[in-house]
Parts: sequence; structure tokens; C-alpha cells
Amino acid sequence: MAATQVRGQRIPRLDAPAKVTGRAKYTYDVDQTSDPRLKGMLYGAILRSRLPRARIRRIDTSKAEKMPGVRAVMSLVGEGAEVQYAGEALAAVAAETWEQAKDALSAIEVEYEPLPFEVDTDRAYEKGLRSSPRVERRGRGEDGFDEADVVVEATYRTPVQIHTPLETHGSVVVWTGPSQVVVYDSTQVLFSVRDSLARELNLPPENVQVICEYMGGGFGSKLWMQHYTPIAARLSRKAGAPVKLMLSREEDFLATGNNPDAVQTIRIGAKKDGTFVAFSRRSYGTGGVGGGADLPAPVYRFPHLYLEHVDVTTNAGPAAPLRAPKWPQAAFGVDSAIDELAAKLGMDPVELRIKNDPSEIRRKEWQIGAERIGWKEKWRPWGSHKGVLRRGLGCGASAWGGGGGPGSVAEVEIFRDGSVVVRLGTQDIGTGTKTVVGIAAADGLGLTPEFLRSDQFRVYIGDTRLGRSGGSGGSTTAASVYPAVYDAADKALARLKEFVAKKLGVPADRLVSQGGRIFDKQNPTKGLTWGEATRLLPTEAISQRGEWRPGMTGSGVAGCQFAEVEVDTETGIVRVVKVVAVHDCGAVINRLTAESQVIGGVTQGISFALLEGRLMDWQTGLMINADLENYKLAGAFEVPEIDVVLLDMPERGVIGLGEPPIIPTAAAIANAVANALGVRVRELPITPDKVLKALGKVPS
Ligand code: MOS
Repeated sequence: MAATQVRGQRIPRLDAPAKVTGRAKYTYDVDQTSDPRLKGMLYGAILRSRLPRARIRRIDTSKAEKMPGVRAVMSLVGEGAEVQYAGEALAAVAAETWEQAKDALSAIEVEYEPLPFEVDTDRAYEKGLRSSPRVERRGRGEDGFDEADVVVEATYRTPVQIHTPLETHGSVVVWTGPSQVVVYDSTQVLFSVRDSLARELNLPPENVQVICEYMGGGFGSKLWMQHYTPIAARLSRKAGAPVKLMLSREEDFLATGNNPDAVQTIRIGAKKDGTFVAFSRRSYGTGGVGGGADLPAPVYRFPHLYLEHVDVTTNAGPAAPLRAPKWPQAAFGVDSAIDELAAKLGMDPVELRIKNDPSEIRRKEWQIGAERIGWKEKWRPWGSHKGVLRRGLGCGASAWGGGGGPGSVAEVEIFRDGSVVVRLGTQDIGTGTKTVVGIAAADGLGLTPEFLRSDQFRVYIGDTRLGRSGGSGGSTTAASVYPAVYDAADKALARLKEFVAKKLGVPADRLVSQGGRIFDKQNPTKGLTWGEATRLLPTEAISQRGEWRPGMTGSGVAGCQFAEVEVDTETGIVRVVKVVAVHDCGAVINRLTAESQVIGGVTQGISFALLEGRLMDWQTGLMINADLENYKLAGAFEVPEIDVVLLDMPERGVIGLGEPPIIPTAAAIANAVANALGVRVRELPITPDKVLKALGKVPS
């Protein structure tokens, strides 16, 4: 990709002022002050199963219907239906106030017939509530271990994690005609919500408009239309009024997705010189009532590989992909086991990785990372650290796809007064997509960063009335939208150049747009400013549509991270001192927001390493920490110095970066803790009790 004045710079988010002043309206915020059509908006609420498994003998909404302020009531399950987890939706109401809606829920009578349940993964596994094993084999599989001189084996555990987006899930719906509906939805997939809802309501898709200009995070749990959207639409139709149905934090915890847990028994075999020969992993985990707890294969070179996975069914909400789904768990297992092997071989763990890493880019990244954390000077073998406060170093690897593809239709409009308007119906899930769209247009038109920030430049996204675009999942958004917007801008510029060419008497293909001027490349003093050029337009505006085209994007990224931790051996508290994160993403589009993605991934990774975990009470079948007080998340105090190193590789094209930075963090931290202590905690989160147990200071 050609260098421009904009691409690869540090461009503040175009919507930063709107966000910090509160002008930005998230789904959670919309009401009649932001959209007059929402006048008379009702509040929706959902009644959910209190039991982990039961038959619904009777559900009676008649009392609720007569409650004050209640405008619509719906049963969502028939009598005799079986509910599979605590939190499953049973009925819904819409009322004039939120309080009236909640009161109406408590007036709905439900008679449950409790059924046997299981919420604990190990107990469910033992009881046989599990799939048959799924096996993947390469080379000679487990037989390959006979070529190994050294073998390590251990079992690693990670908990169920919840997505915890800052903005809970939900929708606001208004019917603007008998078969026309407008939906504000906090979603990663505008068009798929539109099309799914149209199918459910039996409407042509163009009669459904979905809007999500700003969203407070999804991390994969907002990657398809969820149950609350059609519920809100039906309540609204029934009540004849707009309905806002935002889930509570507790509902978000119970019923909108989770990241499966994993129990992995890993074996690695190597030659004496450290060359890996064989890898095996037997794993199981639960995706609740759904499946999907399987883990990806390791990124290192293993001639012989054996993977066996079993999905365990429990009476808990279904899983959903969470930022690089299942890769952090897998990396925690693999990279922990590699450090155990390094200790047994007496080898430097970074050298051992470089020796067995098939990725040329990552081999370079290991070296950069090691240098930045001061590996050579600071690393000391496991068990050699003494004292109450012990520091240690560790590392881990990542890999991801991040390629883009067709399916986006962008529009770039140039006005006679010089203004530029860009439109694309993509969504910004917090990664800075709106700014990426703006940068692509500026790159294609040859505009400057200053122009990008001016009132003359306006970008519209987040609305299905704009050109079609795909969902934001798998870190594919940048590589999907950038080429479409660039294409539209390129075509719009070509039309503008025709008028400039006529005026200057220079062939259009000799004109270059750069730095706010359009000029003759053979005689750069001969040219017009952007404003002079656009004044030549014969109509108020020209506009062009663009689509994704090949050649501007790539796929496949590497990455690695190094962590330095300090462990208090008296309290068991782990403090992350520093993380060095080395990542590549092809051409860096916006260095500022790309770094921000890495910082976000590392922060979430620290949270996964040290704090997070769903706790289920196996006796009642209920989640006992379904709130942000008892479900621990990293906050400002837990975020250390994060040194982000981004390799800019424009020759590889645009590649996504959102997910990979979460992958290696927990592995790097676990390895750093083991390095500091000389003993290993093989179960996340690494809480003080587990550290003290590992040190033998409290009974295990
Ligand atoms: Mo991501 S887990 O593909 O939103």
C-alpha cells in the first residue's frame, strides 16, 4: 500500500468529542430527546427462570396485565415447556415506567416442576453429560512421543468468563408504520440483525432499519440477533408504542453468552536440544446448554500432534465467542507447558520458542519483545528468586486471521464547497472503525489529517439505511471496509480530476491529489487547491459508490507478549509490573487506535489471568457472582505499563488486529508468576489463595 499523509499516523477518533461530551447516544441512551419518534416510550422487561432446569407447569400473566402502567404482556414459553438454565426467558412486559415493568414481572405466576440439573463442569463430565470425543491427528499423533528425549505433562484449568461489555445488551424499537420498524440495537452486526428480525417478523428486510452509531462493547456476545430484539419488537407492536428493552447487568451475566471453561491435559515431547517432536492435548469444557468449548491447535511446530476434545453440557446459558474465542485458554495451556519443558531442559524459554516457531514474523517479534522487557539482563531461572517480593518474567504467543472480504458498499460524496461526506453501514464496536472509514476516504482522496478533523469532513456509519456492510467479528472489519471506502473515494476523485484536467489543460492521469492540492505531477506548481477544484463541479455534489476489491488486504498475523510480575509471597498477591506487546497487522491504518486495541487486549488478558471467573453453586444451580461487584474485572489499578510495539508492514495490506492482543497475556503472566516463585499455578485466575497453596503456605 502506498504511503499517504494520513495512513499510519496517530489520528484521534473522529467521534471523540461526541463521546467525551455525552453527545454520542448509545442504545442505552436513546429516548425522545435524541429521536422524537420515541415519544411515549415504554420500558420492557423480561421474566427469567429462577431454576436451572424445570418444567413449566403453569404460567399465568393475567394479574400482571392488570397492573398499573402495564401496556403489553407476552408469554414466551408454553405450559409444559422445559427450561434449561437459570436466566432463560419466560415472559416479557412493557409498561410506562421501568419500576412498573419490574412490578408486573413479579405479578406473573409461574409454577415450576424442578428437574435434575448439573452446573459443575467436572461433575457433569463424570455423569456422562458430554459429547463423544473429537479427535485431530497430525503426523504419527501420540505415537510420535517415542521420538522424544524429554516429556512434560500437566493439566491446566481456565474458568468460564463473561463478556461484561460496559453497555449491557438491548434494543429500542419503534414502529413507524404498520409494517415499518426502526430498531436501535447494541450490536456488532447491523445487517444481520436487520435480516434476522425481518425474517422473524415476516417483513421485507428494507422495512426494518437498524441503528447503532455507538456501542459500549460486545466482545463477541453481540455477534448475532439475540432474543431481546424480537421481544422488544413484539411488545412494541402489541402496545402500539415505542419500547426500550435494555437488559440488567445480571441478565447480561446469565443469558447473553459466556466464554467456555477448559480443562486441558497437555503433553509435550522434545529432543535434548529442545526441538519439539510431539504434542498431545486432551481437553473438556462447557459451553452451558450449547457446545463450542473446543480449543485451537498450538501455533508452534509439532511434527506429531494429537488433540482430543469433549464438550460438556451444563445447565447454564449458552456460550458465545469472546475476543479471539478460545485462543487465550489454549495459549495459557500451551505456553505454560513450554515453560515447564524449558525448565526441565534447562533452556532459555525464549530461545526454545524461537527454535520451534514456524512464523518468520513472530521469530522477529520474540527478539524485539525480549529486548524491550530486558530479558537478557533480568531473566533468571525458575526457583532462583528469593525474598518476600519476587519478580519474574514470562512470555506467550498469538496468531490470528483478520482478513477482510467483499460485502461492503461505501459512498463518497464531494460537494462544490469542498465538503466530503462518507457513508457506510458498518458499526464501530469501540475499535475506532468510524475513524478507519474516514482515513480510507482521506487516503483515497489525498486529503490531510487536518481536513479529516475539520467540519468539512463528515462520516456516517451505524445505520442500515447506509450502504450494506458485514458484521464486526473475527477482526475482519478494517480489512473489509477500508478497500470499499478507498474504492469509492478513488472513483470520486477520478471524476473530480476530469474537471481539474479541463481547467488546467493537463491530462487527468497526470494529476495527483495530495496535501490538499490537486496538481500536475510533471509540474507540481501547476495545480489547484482542494476548494478551487471542487468549485469546478457542475452540480452541487458528485458521488460514487465503492466496493471491496482485492489487493489491498492480507490475512494472518503473529504476535507475542512479555510480562514482568511481582508476587508478594506473604499475601499471594500478583502485581503485573509491565507488559511488552509486539504485534503486526499488515498496514497500520491508525497507529493511535491500533495501539489502543493492543492496550485493551492486554488489559482484558490481565483480567482473565488474575481476576475473572464465573462461580456457579452446584447445589442450587445459580450463578453467585452475576454482578460487577463480585465478578472481578481489571480496573485502572491493575493496568501496568504497557509497551506496545506495532510492526507496520504496508506491503501486506490491511489486516485486523482487534482480537489477537488478548491471546498471549494470561500465558505470559502465568509464566512470569511461575518464574518468580519456582512453583506453578496451573489454574486461572491466579488469585492469592492459589499462589499461597502453590507455595505450600496454606493446605491445598
Ligand atoms: Mo469477535 S469474538 O469475532 O466479536
